Amino acid sequence: MCGIVGYIGKEDCINPLVAGLTSLEYRGYDSAGIAILNGDSLKVLKDEGKLSRLKDLLKKNELCSNIGIGHTRWATHGAPSKENAHPHTCCQDKIAVVHNGIIENHSVLREDLIKKGHKFSSETDTEIIAHLIEDFYEGDLKAAVSKAIGFLKGSFALVVMSSDNPKLIVTAKQDSPMVLGIGKNANLVASDIPALLGQTREMIIMDNGEMAVLGQDSYQIIDFDGNPVNKAIAHISWDQEAAEKGGFEDFMLKEIHEQPVAVRETLRGLIDDDGTVNLKELKIDSSRIKDINRVVIIACGTSYHAGLVGNSAIESWARIPVELDIASEFRYRNLLVDDKTLVIAITQSGETADTLAGLRSAKDKGAIVVAVTNVVGSSVTREADGLIYTHAGPEIGVAATKTFTSQIAALYVIALFIAQVKGRLTNEEIKKRSVKLWDIPELIKQALTQEENIKKIAQKYAKKPDFLFLGRGLGVPIALEGALKLKEISYIHAEGCAAGEMKHGPIALIDDDCPVVVVATNSATIDKVKANTEEVKARNAQIIAVVNEGNHIFDGVADDLLFVPEISDIFSPIINIIPLQLFAYYVAKAKGCNVDQPRNLAKSVTVE
Ligand code: F6R
Repeated sequence: MCGIVGYIGKEDCINPLVAGLTSLEYRGYDSAGIAILNGDSLKVLKDEGKLSRLKDLLKKNELCSNIGIGHTRWATHGAPSKENAHPHTCCQDKIAVVHNGIIENHSVLREDLIKKGHKFSSETDTEIIAHLIEDFYEGDLKAAVSKAIGFLKGSFALVVMSSDNPKLIVTAKQDSPMVLGIGKNANLVASDIPALLGQTREMIIMDNGEMAVLGQDSYQIIDFDGNPVNKAIAHISWDQEAAEKGGFEDFMLKEIHEQPVAVRETLRGLIDDDGTVNLKELKIDSSRIKDINRVVIIACGTSYHAGLVGNSAIESWARIPVELDIASEFRYRNLLVDDKTLVIAITQSGETADTLAGLRSAKDKGAIVVAVTNVVGSSVTREADGLIYTHAGPEIGVAATKTFTSQIAALYVIALFIAQVKGRLTNEEIKKRSVKLWDIPELIKQALTQEENIKKIAQKYAKKPDFLFLGRGLGVPIALEGALKLKEISYIHAEGCAAGEMKHGPIALIDDDCPVVVVATNSATIDKVKANTEEVKARNAQIIAVVNEGNHIFDGVADDLLFVPEISDIFSPIINIIPLQLFAYYVAKAKGCNVDQPRNLAKSVTVE
C-alpha cells in the first residue's frame, strides 16, 4: 500500500505534489519521492523515511516544473530504502513510474527483461513496470503503457510520465484505488480524494480495467482494450478542514472527539427520522434476506472487533446463527456458504486484501455479500452485492477509532434490518431500539468529558511493560479492542481476554508490573467480572476498571476508575471503548510515540 499523486497543469507542480503526498502519508511512510520534468530530462528526488526528508531535499534543490508525479511508500517488495523508493525509472531515465499495488509475476518479468539487457537498480516489483514500458516504447507513451499492463498480474494503480512526451501523464488502474482530479488549468491523479481537494473538487473515480491520459486541459479515459469510456464527474463537497487536524494535537485525538458526529451521521444514513430502518445502498431484494439461514461476518483487526459486537446484536435481535471469521483465515477455508448465507464484510478502508479475497470466495459460492465500509468508491464497493456506508468522514490516524464506533452503529442497524425482514421483532420493537440508538452520540460526548481524569491515570501507568484487558460478554470485544489500541500506538505488550478464560493461562502473567484493565459496566455477569478482578488483585495486579458513573461496586477493588454513562448492555461496547481509546492515546503520548503513524502499520492493508 502506497500513496500516489500526479499533476499536469499551468502552474508549478511541486506544491500540489507535496500537498497531495502530505495528505496521503497515512498510506505509508517508508520513503517518499517525486519525478518532474526538468528541461528535456526527468529529475527524480527521493529518500528513505518520511515525507519530511523529501521536503528537505526539495528545499536544497530549487525545482520548478508543470508536470510531475509523486509517491509515499509502504514497503512490500524490497526493504524501505532510497533505492527502493519510487518513482522508478527505466534504463535511459526517460520514463518514470509510481505504483500502488503488487505485481505478482514480477520475478518472471524481471528475468525476461534482464535477458533483453535491462539493468535494475532496486528490488521492487514496480521497477519492472518502468522497464517494460521502455521495452514497448515507440514514441507513444499511452500505447507503451497499454501494452505493458497487458503483461502485469496483480494489483496496480500506476502513474507514468516520460521526458519524450512532456505534455501528458498516463495512469492505469486494477484493484488499487485511483481518482482523477479535473481542474481549470490542471489535471491531477491520486490514490484518494482528500489528496486532490486543495486543487479541485471535480473528481472521477476510476474503475478496474481503466486507463487515463491527462493533459494540461484535457483528459481521456479508455479501457484496457483502448475503447473510450465515458465517466461522470462527481462534485466533492467535503470540507478540506475535515481532512486536517482541526486544532487537535493529532489526527487520532481529533477523530476520537469526532465520534459523536461520526456515529450520528452513520445512523442518519441508515435510519429515518421516525425510527424506520432504511438501508438505501443495500440494493438487495428483501425477499433474499428473508430466506437467509445464516450470517457470516468477515473482517480484520479493529473491524473484526466491531464484528464481534455485530454478532451479538444480530443473534439477539434477528435470532439467526452468526459466525465470525478473521478474513485472512476465512479466505482459505473450504467454505460452507451458499445462497442462503448473508456474508457481511466489514472494512473501513474498503481496500483490505484479505477481506476483499474473502468476499470474492463467498460470492463465488453464491452467498449474498454486503460490505460495511467508510470509503465511497473503494474496491469493496465495486465488488459487494450491497453496501452499508459508515459516514465517519476521512480517518487519517492509522489506529481506527471513529470508524470502529461507526461500524458498530451500522451493525446495530443491520441487526434490526434482518430482524425486521425475518419478522423476528415487531415494528414497534424495532422502533424502540432504533430510537435508543439516537441516544448514543450524546452518551459518547459524556464519556469524552472524562478525558482529563483518563489522561492522569494513563500517565501513571505509562511505564508498565505489559497489560491484560478483561471483560465478559459484550465486554470481550472491548477488552480485545482496548488491548489492540494500546499495543499498536504505545508499543506496550497488551492482551485482551475473556475474563472467564483468564484462569486457564493468562493469569500466569499477573504480577505487580502487569496492570489489569477490566470492562466492568452493568451487565448480567457483573458479579462474575468482579470475582475475576478479585482473583487478579490477590496476585498483586493493579486494577483499572471501566465502570458506570455512580456505581460503587468496584470501590476498594479497583485502583483507578474510568467512568462511562450507563446504557443497556447490548449498546455498552460503543460507549465503553471511548475511555480505552483515550487511555491508549495518553499512554502513547506519555511515551512520546507518534500516535498517528505507529511503526510498521499502515491505514489500509492492501497486501496479504
Ligand atoms: C487498528 C486498525 C486495523 C484495521 C485492520 C482492518 O487500529 O485500524 O486493525 O482495523 O487493518 O482494516 P479495514 O477496516 O480497513 O479492513
